[in-house]
Amino acid sequence: MAEKHQKGFLLFNRVCPVGLTWVLDNFFRRWIHNPRKIFNGLVKEGMTVLDVGCGPGVFSIAMADMVGKSGKVIAADLQDGMLEKVKSKLNESNKAIIKLHKCGEDKIGVNEKVDFVLVFYVLHEVPSQEGFLREIKSILKPGGLILIIEPNFHVGKKAFEESIATAISMGFKCEKGPKVFGSRAIILRVLSF
Ligand SMILES: C[S@@+](CC[C@H](N)C(=O)[O-])C[C@H]1O[C@@H](n2cnc3c(N)ncnc32)[C@H](O)[C@@H]1O
Repeated sequence: MAEKHQKGFLLFNRVCPVGLTWVLDNFFRRWIHNPRKIFNGLVKEGMTVLDVGCGPGVFSIAMADMVGKSGKVIAADLQDGMLEKVKSKLNESNKAIIKLHKCGEDKIGVNEKVDFVLVFYVLHEVPSQEGFLREIKSILKPGGLILIIEPNFHVGKKAFEESIATAISMGFKCEKGPKVFGSRAIILRVLSF
């Protein structure tokens, strides 16, 4: 399932390079992928949220506004260069809310429990989707949610359905995700530990 998808991934070396962050972080992206619309009802004040594969931090910064001073955002990425980009955006109002975290090659490595995990344009890049989702499951508080969003142009319907099947086999309940331009989205809720 996820392994088949994986082969394509390895062939094309899919980890998004730091030099391409302008594609992810620009006015147009923030307009078509308006964080307030996408996370409406999912991210609330006081929550602890994990933005795994945060890249340049477009959504970490936005979620910091939404969780407010009583909440926390863990901006996690494999690449130091991405975390540097997020760091450069921290200001007086969000620097106490956003915690930067460096992931390992095949381990996210976050030790605290979170209410919500964002996996935006990341799942198709990870070495093992099952291992990645299993670790996220262990990081989530009971009743916690994962929002997975994948780009249509990289991830076909079949590959996305295979990822969903993997999640279901691991005890996640799938719920309809928000509408996200040019993307496939799904919400996973933890059913069993
Ligand atoms: C296409 S970018 C998306 C960035 C951001 N989520 C966004 O939508 O703007 C994918 C990001 O996931 C990160 N990434 C890939 N594999 C990862 C892994 N196993 N653990 C953590 N981050 C990973 C990459 O370094 C890159 O920053």
